[in-house]
Amino acid sequence: MSDKAVVIEAPGGPEQLKLVDVEVGAPGPGEIRIRHAACGLNYIDVYHRNGAYPLPLPARLGMEGAGVVEAVGEGVTHLAPGDRAAYASQPPGAYATARVMPAKAVLKLPDAIAFETAAAMMLKGLTVQYLLRRTLPQGGLQAGDFILFHAAAGGVGLIACQWARALGLQLIATAGSAEKCQLALEHGATHAIDYRREDFAARVRDITGGRGVKVVYDSVGADTWEGSLNSLAPFGLMVSFGGASGPVPAFNVGTLAAKGSLYLTRPTLFTHIATRETTQAMGDDLFAMVGSGQVGIRIDKRYALADAAEAHRDLEARRLLGSAVLLP
Ligand SMILES: NC(=O)c1ccc[n+]([C@@H]2O[C@H](COP(=O)([O-])OP(=O)(O)OC[C@H]3O[C@@H](n4cnc5c(N)ncnc54)[C@H](OP(=O)(O)O)[C@@H]3O)[C@@H](O)[C@H]2O)c1
Repeated sequence: MSDKAVVIEAPGGPEQLKLVDVEVGAPGPGEIRIRHAACGLNYIDVYHRNGAYPLPLPARLGMEGAGVVEAVGEGVTHLAPGDRAAYASQPPGAYATARVMPAKAVLKLPDAIAFETAAAMMLKGLTVQYLLRRTLPQGGLQAGDFILFHAAAGGVGLIACQWARALGLQLIATAGSAEKCQLALEHGATHAIDYRREDFAARVRDITGGRGVKVVYDSVGADTWEGSLNSLAPFGLMVSFGGASGPVPAFNVGTLAAKGSLYLTRPTLFTHIATRETTQAMGDDLFAMVGSGQVGIRIDKRYALADAAEAHRDLEARRLLGSAVLLP
């Protein structure tokens, strides 16, 4: 049976996603070949598909997967054929039965973590790792501190709720329905706001006794930007890490002064996992959180690789709770 991969010939809607036959080939120096047991679905795949993050065309999609290493190229010492492995990584290409890719971002997977769980957690969990452990306000975060986390019932969001609970933080969740708010609370958020019905910045002021939060983690972008800035305490940190509702509008840096000497960062996971050593350290932290049961991975839906378009439609229509995977 030949190998298959999902490709796009041009940016556009979910109908652009086509499953085609591919030749996988042998790994070169510093590379491995991995046969996927499961592939992750992430919002960045939508930005790649619709051209918000342009890719050279034709392009493959998918940044997260888990499976078995089939072959390793020259110079690869941390992996061997037969190893269970998982990754979050550039370049795109995880929506495939098998692929060749750089070895440095691929980690050996602990036996206790199932392939589907791994495919649902690597990109999202490493993101939460760097957000809550490496993207901190002045003086850091201490137990009891308030943070605001948008889209808290999504893939990244539910992991963040649980990780924040483990750190003793008071995570104020926002989400787009009463059901999603309830789910965020069940996963460890201390408060939840339906931001499609309520003024979340006003609610945050109420919850924090007028002070505001130390950090806002905002992946929604256009729709939440203004309210997020208005939710911060003086010297607070605005972490803008995505734009599910559209990109953040151009703004005047003077706004940061007017709203209380705020800090702003626009991070990406791929800077954090640029080296093998850091990726391993962050991965070990994630594996420990999942292995100890402090963070559970909720897989809402499983799709056949051939149904990637349906998965994208569900993700963009805000129909998913937690993570979803594609099965080759
Ligand atoms: N910078 C980084 O390193 C990095 C890494 C990973 C992920 N991210 C970002 O983190 C976010 C979450 O990623 P994910 O893969 O876990 O996705 P997700 O949270 O499962 O899905 C996105 C969620 O965004 C919310 N949303 C708000 N406005 C929306 C709109 N107009 N259209 C669609 N969704 C909207 C929806 O939740 P509600 O219905 O509850 O509003 C939706 O479920 C994405 O923006 C992603 O790009 C960034």
